[in-house]
Amino acid sequence: MSPSAVKTSHDQSTQDAVRAMSGGVGSAERLAIPVLEVADLAVSFDNSSGGPRIQAVNGVHMTLFPQQTLAVVGESGCGKSVTAMSTMQLIARPPGRFDRGSILFEGRDIVSLSEEEMLSIRGGKIAMIFQEPMTSLNPVYNIGDQLMEAIFLHQKVGPDEAKRIAVQAMKDVGIKKPEERLAMYPHQFSGGMRQRVMIAMALACRPKVLLADEPTTALDVTIQAQILELLRELQRTRDMGIMLITHNLGVVAENADVVCVMYAGRVVEYANVFELFDEPLHPYTRGLFRSIPMLRDTRERLVTIKDVTHDPAEFRKIPGVIPWWPDMPPGVRPEGAPDRDEHVLVEVRPNRWVGCWRTPELEARSHRRPSLDYRRGDR
Ligand SMILES: Nc1ncnc2c1ncn2[C@@H]1O[C@H](COP(=O)(O)OP(=O)(O)OP(=O)(O)O)[C@@H](O)[C@H]1O
Ligand SMILES: [Mg+2]
Repeated sequence: MSPSAVKTSHDQSTQDAVRAMSGGVGSAERLAIPVLEVADLAVSFDNSSGGPRIQAVNGVHMTLFPQQTLAVVGESGCGKSVTAMSTMQLIARPPGRFDRGSILFEGRDIVSLSEEEMLSIRGGKIAMIFQEPMTSLNPVYNIGDQLMEAIFLHQKVGPDEAKRIAVQAMKDVGIKKPEERLAMYPHQFSGGMRQRVMIAMALACRPKVLLADEPTTALDVTIQAQILELLRELQRTRDMGIMLITHNLGVVAENADVVCVMYAGRVVEYANVFELFDEPLHPYTRGLFRSIPMLRDTRERLVTIKDVTHDPAEFRKIPGVIPWWPDMPPGVRPEGAPDRDEHVLVEVRPNRWVGCWRTPELEARSHRRPSLDYRRGDR
């Protein structure tokens, strides 16, 4: 079986067959098997003020390959963290509810796993750097205790071995004199160092998937660049896939292989990073890029995303389809788009997906799920 046959396949039995052969699978083929596949994920929450349920995520698809960085971008509240937290099975139910979809980790659907089964995956095989890492360390335990607790939970090792792994994990993230620092408490570390400890904790068990939710937002640009470089390096040596959630398009441009743009719980665009930046196809993505201030741009007013998404012409640029948007400018919403589940992610040209209105013509077509085994080094 060629890697390209594996690459485009979401067929479970094909992937199982490849995995079964994995003793003899070379690195190109190994890297072509998705490590995480989120398909049609929908998650909602009870509305505490008594109104209709809050549909936080509504039919999200994304595919992550080993050694790949998949950036997830989109404005606040669009469902990035809920997608990541669902992958860790950390959504409290209630108030949360899985409405539909699957999350395959190495081909196994984790949505249906029991809490006990999930314990062996969470933190060990799939790890997360949380959006607010400064508050994720416990102030009353020293760094070593907190790191070693994570190691004991996932690896059958004694105290000496756990300490050795903890020291190595601190070294891996560039913390000097780790033996001495293990005995220190979080308040004795700077913000950048605490962030490194969080990353060390996430990486100590050598996860296959790292969910990095705004991992560097609170850091200055120098430390941010160091940490992202470190993640890239560890990713290469460990075959890890990274889901990188960020608002920073500069971070995306420098680090992502593939980009998933979300809006209101939907995927509106999915592409490799170079193609997306060269030519964004969805009006929202175009608005997002055009709203970035440029140093030499002397216009009095910046372009806003709404300037773009309120322009009917922006929705008529892709032949045969109309991009989906909850607040359409007049006259462009297609006739016959049913209200129910009206969004569909369409491969509008090879390897370019755009969220579109589900018209009867699109309904009749089969749609390949977004899956790009692309890494920027492939260029
Ligand atoms: N526990 C909860 N109860 C009710 N609603 C929730 C809960 N958690 C998330 N939501 C809602 O789900 C939606 C998606 O939230 P999410 O945290 O995923 O956004 P986000 O894209 O990560 O935003 P940000 O960029 O601000 O981190 C939001 O409307 C949010 O209010
Ligand atoms: Mg978030």
